[in-house]
Amino acid sequence: MKIEFYRHNIGKAEKEKLLSALDSIFLTTGELTYEFEKNLASYLGIASTIGLMSCTAALHLALLALNIGPGDEVITTPLTFIATANTILHAGAKPVFVDVEPTTGNLDVNLAEKAITDKTKAILPVHLYGHMCDMKALRQIADKYELKIIEDAAHSLESVRDGYRPGQLGDAACFSFYATKSITCGEGGAIGIRDKNLDELLRKLSLHGMSRSAADRYHGRYQHWDMELLGWKYNLSNVQAALLIPQLARVEEYLSRREEICQRYEKAFMDLPGVSYPKVLPNTKSARHLFTIWVDPKVRDEKMFELQSAGINVAVNYRAIHLLKFYKEEYSFLPGSFPVAERIGSSTITLPLYSKLTDEEVNYIIETVRKIFKK
Ligand SMILES: Cc1ncc(COP(=O)(O)O)c(C=O)c1O
Repeated sequence: MKIEFYRHNIGKAEKEKLLSALDSIFLTTGELTYEFEKNLASYLGIASTIGLMSCTAALHLALLALNIGPGDEVITTPLTFIATANTILHAGAKPVFVDVEPTTGNLDVNLAEKAITDKTKAILPVHLYGHMCDMKALRQIADKYELKIIEDAAHSLESVRDGYRPGQLGDAACFSFYATKSITCGEGGAIGIRDKNLDELLRKLSLHGMSRSAADRYHGRYQHWDMELLGWKYNLSNVQAALLIPQLARVEEYLSRREEICQRYEKAFMDLPGVSYPKVLPNTKSARHLFTIWVDPKVRDEKMFELQSAGINVAVNYRAIHLLKFYKEEYSFLPGSFPVAERIGSSTITLPLYSKLTDEEVNYIIETVRKIFKK
């Protein structure tokens, strides 16, 4: 059997919507983008969302809009995709890593508080694998020290913790619609905000700092535009939004299938020697973006190759980023700096998880993992 790491859900509804976008004259940011943004804000229960080219773009703009730049420190996790820390550098600020919780792999809130200095301007938690960080505790800390919170919600579109979704307690939440995300247009992203006042600034930042978008310029009598600040070119197009609108409407349906698969994995691996996995804590609905098993680091790569040889495509999410060449050299990190993140990073294997996995494929994955680890 050959099982892909990921298969998207683009089907008839998405293709029809895409064709209607292609038949219209307006391919860039316009009505379909606005429709998607409205639906996304309503799904998340927040004031506004702005569609962007990627989550990377969203993180970058969130930092700029919240006035974070040179001389500032941003506390974040080393157990994440490099985009999280890279965007702090793009904004001119310094990422300050703190270690993660051993149960979830999420930013350890106590360590985050201890890392605050007079240069700290923000905390950038990542809701790893779809499990939200303790946002209530982080909000309290942020309020106490007058910090901003930017949530990296690339894995957590559908998550809820203590009744709050991404974007409901943070100052900004950043989403990804990259090729392997639960809804996707190949490359895409969005930023969600509670404070509607940031909306105009973020839109300008996403379009070179122009005072009018192409849609504004196209409709009605021509109006001159100005450039009010230095922005970037990060806007989401109607073509991308056309693919996302129908998927967003079915996001909970997809999640319930992933939840079912995760529960099967958890049950099957509960008593398997040498295999553990992150916990979903009480009062939490995980977006179930990735299912990872944590195994003995000494055999991780060997077991991963065995899974691949059996036709199961796997991935590593993530080797701790402070030990990647650039960060290690830039900040002179040594192994042992963040032991929990390093241990998880060297023991993790991500199994296929998506709503299109069939029961037969799930059975095969379970049987193969059990067989490989029982040896
Ligand atoms: C945790 C995390 N943050 C940020 C990103 C960046 O997302 P994008 O590819 O949309 O820029 C990713 C992408 O996979 C991610 O997993």
